[in-house]
Amino acid sequence: MEPDKQSADRQATILLVDDESINLSIFGQFLAPYYQVLVATDGPRALQLAGGTPKPDVILLDVMMPGMDGYQVIGQLKADPDTRDIPVIFVTALSSDVEEERGLLLGAVDYIYKPCHLSILLARIKTQLELKNARDWLKDQNAYLETEVQRRHQENQVVHLQLLQSEKLAAIGQLAAGIAHEINNPIGFVSSNLNTLNGYLHDVFSVMDACDAALNENPLSAETLQDLRELKTSKQLDYLRGDIPELIAESREGLSRVRDIIQDLKDFAHTDKNEWELGDLHKGLDSTLNIIGNELKYRCTVHKQYGEIPQIYCLPSQLNQVFMNLLINAAHAIETKGDIHIRTGCTGQEVWVEIGDNGKGIAPENLTRLFEPFFTTKPVGKGTGLGLSISQNIVRKHGGRIDVSSEPGQGSRFRVWLPIRPPELGRSA
Ligand SMILES: Nc1ncnc2c1ncn2[C@@H]1O[C@H](COP(=O)(O)OP(=O)(O)O)[C@@H](O)[C@H]1O
Ligand SMILES: [Mg+2]
Repeated sequence: MEPDKQSADRQATILLVDDESINLSIFGQFLAPYYQVLVATDGPRALQLAGGTPKPDVILLDVMMPGMDGYQVIGQLKADPDTRDIPVIFVTALSSDVEEERGLLLGAVDYIYKPCHLSILLARIKTQLELKNARDWLKDQNAYLETEVQRRHQENQVVHLQLLQSEKLAAIGQLAAGIAHEINNPIGFVSSNLNTLNGYLHDVFSVMDACDAALNENPLSAETLQDLRELKTSKQLDYLRGDIPELIAESREGLSRVRDIIQDLKDFAHTDKNEWELGDLHKGLDSTLNIIGNELKYRCTVHKQYGEIPQIYCLPSQLNQVFMNLLINAAHAIETKGDIHIRTGCTGQEVWVEIGDNGKGIAPENLTRLFEPFFTTKPVGKGTGLGLSISQNIVRKHGGRIDVSSEPGQGSRFRVWLPIRPPELGRSA
């Protein structure tokens, strides 16, 4: 019987351990054409060769040896991580079930009795080598898979971060468009008022110049006096006197609107801090509404039904992001015209904020999937499918939850429950 040539690049190595050199030489000569053979005549030498290079792929170990016997040798081989995986076949003249059991318990993979048929020896060795190769291959595969899993995990995290970033950018884009519109309007009329005022001042100065010239005329002729009166009438100074304060008041009002928008933006973003603090959810809702009002106002009427709720420990700017996501989703669900109801309330240890709409609703099969990252029913470019997943993460971080109920065709309600004192209190964001 012909054993397979081991892998083409590496011949398998067999370590023979026997105190009788006649056995070593018979086995050695027989195995030499197929394997690289190492020999040891006692236990200590066997251990030395087992730990060296080349490392044996299989060890044939005599049980009865003076000094250190085969049981002691296998005990030490198994105790050393470097040698514990080398398969050991006991070779013995004893034929006893008790002995065989002892050897197998100690970790031997097989038992061969002397004298033995050499071709059987060869077959047994071959079997052990194949098993060992399979084990080694599995070990390599596992190591490879582990690094692969780790690598993919890292990749996923990078992709996830990039998506969070792009969801944020999309939200910022939406906000920026709305805010640009809100600010453009007051800036427009303030600057038009300034132009008008400029014209008015021009007229006022032309009358004053005429007065100065008249003052230098001595004596003042009736004709000049008449010209002055006509000039004053033609420049409508009385009208200007009434209109100028109005223009100024209107411009002040416009600038204060711009200032409010900027204040709302600051409240919304809380850019200066991202820390747990006592926050007023109504204030957060109001500043969020002011920011996205433009997005909502064409299709939706917003109804506020605020209850009595205490301030809660929270990350206010992150909760504002949740409210914004829910409000924008509600607005998107409304196709032509509809209502958004914002309700708040409190039960014992929790407060809740509910955003309800009478939009198109959610199909029952989608209800369980809403919070999955990337789940969206919106066309590419319109939805990322991350809004609710991000919102749920934020709410969970607060120790809360989001409940949904919806009826297709009737509308949806998202209720955010938040503990008044979240368990993570004190941990930073
Ligand atoms: N108020 C709502 N009415 C109807 N469907 C909604 C509402 N809110 C969320 N959805 C559904 O949940 C999906 C996921 O929402 P979200 O995570 O915010 O992602 P996106 O808005 O980008 O699609 C939406 O595509 C939509 O199908
Ligand atoms: Mg959304």
